[in-house]
Amino acid sequence: MRTRSACRCTHRRPLAPHISERTISFHYGKHHAAYVETANELTADTAHADVSLEALVRSLGPGDRGSKLFNAAAQAWNHDFYWRSMSPGGGGEPDGDLAAALAASFGSVDALRDEFAAAAVGNFASGWGWLVFDTAAAGAGPGALRIVQTDVEHLANWEFASANYAAALHAHA
Ligand SMILES: [Fe+2]
Repeated sequence: MRTRSACRCTHRRPLAPHISERTISFHYGKHHAAYVETANELTADTAHADVSLEALVRSLGPGDRGSKLFNAAAQAWNHDFYWRSMSPGGGGEPDGDLAAALAASFGSVDALRDEFAAAAVGNFASGWGWLVFDTAAAGAGPGALRIVQTDVEHLANWEFASANYAAALHAHA
């Protein structure tokens, strides 16, 4: 499995004070590293050896769910996405097509924040929420963004979100 650089971190506390050095040491230095190492071990010298992490996860079928390879690859992908969703210089306001889509979907960015926070707080355990592109509503214009249930808005990497939104639009054009 080919891995991408997981994090643009250049120092030990890149997301402080919102995400502590201790949290990063666990989730990046231990969890993420272990999932990548396991996935690489399980794919070495196999047909999956030279595929990207995303391609690997997509290639695994329902019968693979719960397998050691699926769990390692999916968790590596989840952690990679998590890191890319935040930026030391993040926060503020999105712009461009994403800003228009957020306004069409939620009424305003502030309304998105309120709905996102409510979903995260109402989610038992770690408070995760996801802003997703609703493929069923893709043809209905820009209002196709939904929250399916973070509380880390000060780090929001709108550039990454815009790139994902553009990719989703392109895939469902
Ligand atoms: Fe983790």
